[in-house]
Amino acid sequence: MSRIRLAPLGRVRARLRVPGDKSISHRALILNALAEGSALVTGLAPGLDVRSTATALAALGTRIDVAADGTARVTGSPSWREGAVDCGNSGTTARLLLGALAPRAGGAVVLDGDSSLRRRPMGRVVRPLAAMGAEIASRGQEGRLPLVVRGAPLRGMTHRLEVASAQVKSAILLAGLSADGTTWIEEPSPSRDHTERMLRAMGARIEAGAGRVRLEPGPIRAVDVAVPGDLSSAAFFLALAAAGGGEAAIEDVGLNPGRSGFLDLLRRLGAEVVVDLADAGVEPRGRVVVRAGALRGIDVGRAEVAASIDELTLLAVVATRAEGETRVTGAAELKVKESDRIAAIVAGLSAMGADIEPLPDGFAVRGPTPLAGAELDARGDHRIGMALAVAASLADGPSTLSGAEWVDVSYPGFFDTLAGCGDARVTA
Ligand code: S3P
Repeated sequence: MSRIRLAPLGRVRARLRVPGDKSISHRALILNALAEGSALVTGLAPGLDVRSTATALAALGTRIDVAADGTARVTGSPSWREGAVDCGNSGTTARLLLGALAPRAGGAVVLDGDSSLRRRPMGRVVRPLAAMGAEIASRGQEGRLPLVVRGAPLRGMTHRLEVASAQVKSAILLAGLSADGTTWIEEPSPSRDHTERMLRAMGARIEAGAGRVRLEPGPIRAVDVAVPGDLSSAAFFLALAAAGGGEAAIEDVGLNPGRSGFLDLLRRLGAEVVVDLADAGVEPRGRVVVRAGALRGIDVGRAEVAASIDELTLLAVVATRAEGETRVTGAAELKVKESDRIAAIVAGLSAMGADIEPLPDGFAVRGPTPLAGAELDARGDHRIGMALAVAASLADGPSTLSGAEWVDVSYPGFFDTLAGCGDARVTA
């Protein structure tokens, strides 16, 4: 396990591009693998998660060539072969492939992942797919990987999701493409709609809005995808600027409304947030600038959680600099991510001297409190590693971070980019 030293960063001045969007990259590969024809994907996310998707598709028999410069050529095929598929650490790979495989696996496909992914809930995907007629069996614990999928005829139906989850919604949509009849999905609150947008661009008959989606089965055609920068990766630098008294400008980043909740939260906290929409293509994208301001604590409830889910631990870091209490509720989903993110951020920030307490479905932070350098642990979770690195950059003294290698799941090169934003020294 690699342990790195992180020094305080001082005032931040960042102008950068971030790696390609992870959510859109997974979908660009998987949806084109299901489509008729061949597509070129550019700006693919460089992390291990998207590599897991590419190797999984290749194992299933998809023709896919990923080049080192982030371009990939994918050629769709009408069926997939049986075998073993390793999803690594990637929940999106496992859940979207369950949906894609349910109607089209040729024989038994065994989906598995690393020890973290084996602990994550898959029943939320298995149950709706089974209701459509899918044949998915547990090899170990019920509703956990490894799972065995056998292709089966599916019927379209109405699903009312237990949680607002783009992964569950997307799995059902990919299954629904090959089902008999219409698929309807209702979500408790709208989640990111990358799959719906891409399916529409591929010619699917899909209607979506206000947490409801309707899909008619039918073929889709391959489309080229130029992946924008990942707002979830940009968020680390935006948070650093908001909390550390500086400015960060991120060029060409994805601005899907189902993903950009963190920008609204930063604004509500008192930071200056300027968004320039550059392109109204399949996915909105553009430039984001964040400047520090006088920060005051905010309440974040269930309705705001889906659009900021991956950034909420980062919000906790920024909240240590805000006057008064910041309270996040309705976010129990944080407990079933790559780690229990409520426990992980509470442990990390408490070690640095923050006033943070866990809640059953969120956390409360009272500020402002100075952060002291500390021994930190990524707990096998890329986003916790990076959120704590941001906290370490804001601290009064040096910190160490164990498990630093986990950031490669979504953002190889993160620590070098971070160090370049100020005068921090990073030593391996
Ligand atoms: C993702 C959806 C979110 C998010 C994850 C990526 C996606 O998960 O936390 O990092 O690409 O669809 P849920 O859909 O489970 O909320």
